[in-house]
Amino acid sequence: MCGIIAAISRKNIINILKEGMIRLEYRGYDSSGLAIIDNKNKILRFREKGKVNNLIKSIERSHLFGNIGIAHTRWATHGKALKKNAHPHISSNISIVHNGVIENYKEIKICLKKEGYQFSSDTDTEVIAHLIHFTQNKNNKKTLLTVIQNVTKKLKGNYSMVIMDKNNPNVLLAVRSGSPLLIGIGKEENYITSDQIALLAITQRFIYLHEGDIAILTHSDITVFNSHGISKKRKETQSKINFNNVSKGLFRHYMEKEIHEQPHSIRNTILNRLTKNKTIYFSEFNTRANKILSKTEHIHIVACGTSYHAGLVSKYWFESLSMIPCDVEVASEFCYRKFVVRKNSLLLIISQSGETADNLTALRTAKNLGYLGSLAICNSKSSSLVYETDFSLLTHAGIEIGVASTKAFTAQLTVLLMLVAKFINIKKHNIKLEHDIVNILNILPDRIESILRYKNTIYTLAKKLFYKKNIIFLGKGEQYPIALEGALKIKEISYIHAEGYPIGELKHGTLALVDSKIPIIIIAPNNNLLQKIKLNIEEIQAREGLIYIFSDLFTKFNQNNSNIIRFPYIENLISPIFYSVSLQLLAYYIALIKGNNIDQPRNLAKSVTVE
Ligand code: F6R
Repeated sequence: MCGIIAAISRKNIINILKEGMIRLEYRGYDSSGLAIIDNKNKILRFREKGKVNNLIKSIERSHLFGNIGIAHTRWATHGKALKKNAHPHISSNISIVHNGVIENYKEIKICLKKEGYQFSSDTDTEVIAHLIHFTQNKNNKKTLLTVIQNVTKKLKGNYSMVIMDKNNPNVLLAVRSGSPLLIGIGKEENYITSDQIALLAITQRFIYLHEGDIAILTHSDITVFNSHGISKKRKETQSKINFNNVSKGLFRHYMEKEIHEQPHSIRNTILNRLTKNKTIYFSEFNTRANKILSKTEHIHIVACGTSYHAGLVSKYWFESLSMIPCDVEVASEFCYRKFVVRKNSLLLIISQSGETADNLTALRTAKNLGYLGSLAICNSKSSSLVYETDFSLLTHAGIEIGVASTKAFTAQLTVLLMLVAKFINIKKHNIKLEHDIVNILNILPDRIESILRYKNTIYTLAKKLFYKKNIIFLGKGEQYPIALEGALKIKEISYIHAEGYPIGELKHGTLALVDSKIPIIIIAPNNNLLQKIKLNIEEIQAREGLIYIFSDLFTKFNQNNSNIIRFPYIENLISPIFYSVSLQLLAYYIALIKGNNIDQPRNLAKSVTVE
């Protein structure tokens, strides 16, 4: 969501902050700002609405110099995307940047107003700055650490933040609460960020703060206190992410690069997990995890957005292949309804980032409800989700920077299919089926390569569709969630209204929309559902619907050939993964033709850390 970068050094830290903000922009991009303490011990603050580039232009005119500074890229929660609401927020000597939401900010604001504080923004963050200043002034013998410890006791909600104090110009304080913060270790300098991507150009050495930690940084020292105020040594880790992998390379957009990386990201995801005996091996599963899996009689999947669609596809697989009943629901609904936990049910949370607030709330809500255990499928090893679930499976898709999820989605589906095979093995249902899944997973990367060769065909279709106001996507069986995902991608980056439906459901209402103008994209692979799909296609054609059929080279249809988009043969088991790539390309090319900001679509942000 928002991005934090802060640095303390003997050298000028301006370029570290600037570079860091550029790298973090994918997390929030409606405004940005930075503050430094200069060599006259003055706080200098710069903030701008819109892209980080606007801020950088205004800083460059000022030739700034500072050894300590904090910076932020914002995705608005409280208060519009205006300059006055951009971080850092200042209260006299205190300046702060913050990720999260303070739930009781209104109450605190009323109290602070009574104490004479004036507010210049609509944010919850400014409340924290004034509260720190107020607490510090009331207890002027207390250290900054004690003041922050007192303040955090009064805050409700999430408040990962970095604090800079003009009266203590040789330290930065960082608090982790609710969203990740990590410390980067440099030579004679140290940094704090919400995402290692901001620092990979200058360090690979990181310390992940734990929930509730408060860290004190100087240019040469790092001290960490846990939520009980006890000094703790946190483990240093070496990042394995190659800095070059977070650049666009020869591609125009991260999304385009990430779509094309899918054969590689899927190869990484299956690496060392498919055994010679054609079984699945998950090194992450210990004896307890295996015990939980063998007891599992029901799977309850909770996720959001694209990850939810991955869950919906897997419901078909779990129930038809491993015979395990499975329910799937969006996290923001799961948290706020009363439900009955099925006997021996496993909670499975799917998330690319592992920081989605709705998922974390769902997990915390479910903790004492009687699930056998909680399993995460996640793309980030160091995420809160992986930390808080009983066990996890990583997707190994590599960092995804485009806001619209692509390679993380297909990696989730790949892990889910492996998990299905694992269950078949554990439940001893049909060993041949397990072997078939392993064989098919081995050829999946090549199959994805084959569909990527059809990008010109998809571009031609995009040219026919880019000016449309609405698009309908239809699928049946496992392709129904793929229709939902296709529609989501279109909405997200091309700003065209799109809906996904089960094709058989159209006649129950939505058929009324059908005319010769609204494009209807039908995913129709050659499987046991094809005859039914063909009947539904006839119904649409009888209403003069503008149909485009995604199918393979061999399937016969009665429709005009120019409206059939033919792809190579694909094995039924992996056809949802295959067709989802064609819809990613379609959304990408439509957005490209429209000239939209593909990697940073309006109003959105990567990793939604607020409910
Ligand atoms: C859409 C997209 C979102 C995310 C959703 C959940 O392209 O990326 O719908 O899937 O916000 O995010 P994660 O998977 O990080 O929990």
